[in-house]
Amino acid sequence: MESRRLGRSGLTVSAVGLGTNNFGGRLNDEAARHVLNEALEQGVNFIDTADVYGRGSTAGAGSSEEQLGRLMAGRRNRFIVATKFGVPMGDSDLERGASRRWITTSAENSLRRLRTDYIDLYQVHTADPETPIEETLGALDDLVRAGKVRYVGVSNYAAWQMADAVWTARTEHLARPISAQMHYNLLVRGIQAEVIPACEAHGLGIIPYFPLESGFLTGKYKPGGNGHGRLVESPRAGEIMSPPNFDRLGALEAFAVERGHTILDLAFGWLLSQSIVGPVIASASSPEQVRANVVASTWRLSPDEMAAVATL
Ligand SMILES: NC(=O)c1ccc[n+]([C@@H]2O[C@H](COP(=O)([O-])OP(=O)(O)OC[C@H]3O[C@@H](n4cnc5c(N)ncnc54)[C@H](OP(=O)(O)O)[C@@H]3O)[C@@H](O)[C@H]2O)c1
Repeated sequence: MESRRLGRSGLTVSAVGLGTNNFGGRLNDEAARHVLNEALEQGVNFIDTADVYGRGSTAGAGSSEEQLGRLMAGRRNRFIVATKFGVPMGDSDLERGASRRWITTSAENSLRRLRTDYIDLYQVHTADPETPIEETLGALDDLVRAGKVRYVGVSNYAAWQMADAVWTARTEHLARPISAQMHYNLLVRGIQAEVIPACEAHGLGIIPYFPLESGFLTGKYKPGGNGHGRLVESPRAGEIMSPPNFDRLGALEAFAVERGHTILDLAFGWLLSQSIVGPVIASASSPEQVRANVVASTWRLSPDEMAAVATL
């Protein structure tokens, strides 16, 4: 497994990570243990979760972190654990956002659920326009100084918000965000215009989420077919499984096959051929999917191949 630096920081992470938004809700402890054990076996050490994962399932918000905490017990030091705060945990206005009050409470809640005394990467899940960035970064910096958080990251920020956060951290001598978790894959490339240049300039690594567009980029869904998997039940199913997306998928798949690869190889390889990209955090329903994803992660596209994919 290749190791990568995350942004302009000393943190080294596995090129393939594991997303766990299906832990707690969709996967029971036994299924999740198989997935996590296979990830470790394959050299995956970066695990991404969030306080809110599990909300909407019978297990409820917090259940992904709780399950991960149970499964990591006794081997915490083998994982780099990234979690997030800020998305509503419930209907109350008191359980959301990036205020000092909620950050301090959220961090304690996540530490308890994860059964750990430190979070490796603590990410603002989404920008909070109501809270001054000085307050957010100040509260995060206090957690870093207290040893409860090792690194700070952001997610779903606009480019200007990243520049603002980095500049504020620098001028106020606060912990600087090292990563940006963003929706990025072969079909969704919107961050290339502004966000990626901002991250390059300010030393943030990109953690692409939905790297497989919820499974669509595995090629297992066919037009008019009833493919099996979570995408079928997703509220985004219609938007993702649209005729134009199937056309693009066909062109991308043909590109991969002409070069002796699969669409899954291309989904991982295209992301990992970009040096700004840190861990690619696909989720998995089974150990077989974890293995397939790690095997698929080795293709590094040449500059000519990257230029060709840019037109597809
Ligand atoms: N920061 C944010 O706002 C944000 C938002 C969303 C997600 N995330 C993070 O990103 C992670 C990944 O997102 P995601 O899981 O929703 O999307 P994804 O990684 O694009 O899709 C993963 C899903 O595709 C299927 N799959 C994975 N590997 C496969 C393989 N080799 N063959 C066939 N099917 C395969 C599995 O579902 P099935 O088996 O059911 O098909 C799996 O759950 C999340 O776990 C979370 O950590 C962050």
